Amino acid sequence: MATIVLALGGSLLRPEVEERHAWLEELVSIIRDRVLVDDRIGIVVGGGAPAREGIALTRPIVDNEDRLDRIGIAATRLNATMVRESLADAGVMVSGTIPHSINEATMLFDERPVVVMGGTTPGHTTDAVAIRLAIASGAERCIICTNVDRVYDSDPQNDPTAKAHDMLTHEEFQEIVGPAEHTHAGPSGVVDPMGVADATSANLTLCILDGREHSRIKSAIEGEAFHGTIVESEKSK
Ligand code: UTP
Repeated sequence: MATIVLALGGSLLRPEVEERHAWLEELVSIIRDRVLVDDRIGIVVGGGAPAREGIALTRPIVDNEDRLDRIGIAATRLNATMVRESLADAGVMVSGTIPHSINEATMLFDERPVVVMGGTTPGHTTDAVAIRLAIASGAERCIICTNVDRVYDSDPQNDPTAKAHDMLTHEEFQEIVGPAEHTHAGPSGVVDPMGVADATSANLTLCILDGREHSRIKSAIEGEAFHGTIVESEKSK
């Protein structure tokens, strides 16, 4: 039995394809299979388009980052509800509520093998929530499902010489994402630097991959080799 936490970037719930529900359906099927082999899975869902839209609409009239963060958190809870209801409908033993804190989420793990949540409090993103849930629940690793195939040392969209990494130490990764601070509500880099700092302190393994490719999520959950970036301590490297 393993405990694994997944951070699902909110953009994954709005793939620009015709059959866009198919992504969610496949995710549900992967989670259902892992519950059958007694894994415990925590899923932390990002805000995606509703967070971006809500923050952009309000920013010109709301001069307070905490308030804007709370709009983002509401969007993460909306997206978490979509994932939770889809799992429940497929018969997966998922927690009945969307917890508001890491503490509440770890308690729900005592009742059900799958817990789905969004954001918690202002000042960070759902990557940091997922990393903290992984640490608090004794998870083996935290899998960050984004929409880039690996971690690059600079933005590959602007820099054609950007180098992709298959493996990094926590310190190398912190160097790439920058110092542990939350500067503003809304879109951030590949992984929240505050979460990376927490993963470093707790020596938590991070797997960063393109969540649009289900086979990569599945391999990372199963502890198999996957296409993406693994972040581990110097010793395990
Ligand atoms: P996301 O976790 O989706 O962050 O939360 P993001 O960086 O904008 O999106 P990705 O990772 O690129 O997909 C959306 C917003 O909600 C607020 C933040 O403002 C964040 O930018 N938020 C979220 C919080 O303040 N606290 C939380 O626990 C989660």
